[in-house]
Amino acid sequence: MDKKRSAETICIQGGWEPKNGEPRVLPIYQSTTFKYESSEQMGRLFDLEENGYFYTRLANPTNDAVAAKICELEGGVAAMLTSSGQAANLYAVLNICSQGDHIVCSSAIYGGTFNLFTVTLKRFGIEVTLVDQDASAEELEKAFCERTKAVFAETIANPALAVLDIEKFAALAHSHGVPLIVDNTFATPINCRPFQWGADIVTHSTTKYMDGHALTVGGCIVDSGNFDWEAHKDKYPGLTTPDASYHGIVYTQKFGKAAYITKATAQLMRDMGSIQAPQNAFLLNVGLETLHLRVPRHCENALKVAEYLKSRDDVAWVRYPGLQGDQYYELARKYMPKGTCGVISFGLKGGRAAAGEFMDKLKLAAIVTHVADARTSVLHPASHTHRQLSDEQLVEAGVDPSLIRLSVGIENADDIIEDLRQALEN
Ligand SMILES: Cc1ncc(COP(=O)(O)O)c(C=O)c1O
Repeated sequence: MDKKRSAETICIQGGWEPKNGEPRVLPIYQSTTFKYESSEQMGRLFDLEENGYFYTRLANPTNDAVAAKICELEGGVAAMLTSSGQAANLYAVLNICSQGDHIVCSSAIYGGTFNLFTVTLKRFGIEVTLVDQDASAEELEKAFCERTKAVFAETIANPALAVLDIEKFAALAHSHGVPLIVDNTFATPINCRPFQWGADIVTHSTTKYMDGHALTVGGCIVDSGNFDWEAHKDKYPGLTTPDASYHGIVYTQKFGKAAYITKATAQLMRDMGSIQAPQNAFLLNVGLETLHLRVPRHCENALKVAEYLKSRDDVAWVRYPGLQGDQYYELARKYMPKGTCGVISFGLKGGRAAAGEFMDKLKLAAIVTHVADARTSVLHPASHTHRQLSDEQLVEAGVDPSLIRLSVGIENADDIIEDLRQALEN
């Protein structure tokens, strides 16, 4: 595959390259299973000695084509789809961490990931140290220990909208011999390609801009192929020593740069099975075909809306990393010069109480849990997605109790602004 194709071409044509007489459009391989004529060949597939499909929980051609498209967009070497963004982040960590291990994680992350890491992974015996991603490298150093196996953060945090200094985090992770895992859901590879800045693994909730139409829940993990697992052999025995469940295969030796994704597929997906349905992968692919058109429009609309909100006296504060003067404006210019995302957070002078009242008056923008799709939507994280967090945890996650998360869609910007105006003034 030509790695130098532009994002626009990859969005349309990546992943599925039909041969003579094959369907022009990626087909849905709606089949759990695949037929073989020799029992010996089936055996070789099970031993990972030969490439081929045998059961959709492990691999499916529709899913593989969509994963290949996302992989190419990110500039990675291998990728896999998962049933959700949650599953992607869970597998990304579990693939290299087991009981007794530890990860360093930015505290400014999506509430669901926050819970997954600090509550559920803890039950698995994996400890997490949360850090302020804006702290100095010297301060961040203190979070590492001998059992640290990975560093995790989001390129643009949901909903704090903090922009990650990817180079700083990559250097820190690498100086401790561990990979940097970055959730690139909000920026998308249209605006930011974290591998260019040193990240090793990228995850996505494809549920958001990639799908773009709020149709399907899904996730993806992409490996840059750059992290040298063999150089840190003792830390990653799952990748660098024989896997008893695959007749002693050593993933790094047998699969080279594809070791990480092969292990996640062959072992985690086999055992835990959070596969994306091929039908959903098909819908995701249709969304991806316009990602390069939608994302710039989201950003353009969001900037207009952010400027409008900033101009109003009844708005206490606005956070949008694309807005001049924003705390993260300079980092955003460095890592995502074409634009950031369509999500804005802001607070009203009336605080928590005013947030609910304002939201109830909106007509065009809908109150929904979702973000990052074509329709403008709004949410009050302290009352909704993050309601399980204490006020202290909310602040730690960068979520002011007054924070309103506005996901600006791709409708006409003037219509969106008019809706906000009438809700604020009526
Ligand atoms: C940044 C980020 N990562 C992961 C997730 C989880 O994804 P999903 O809802 O697809 O499981 C979300 C969901 O909002 C998210 O915003």
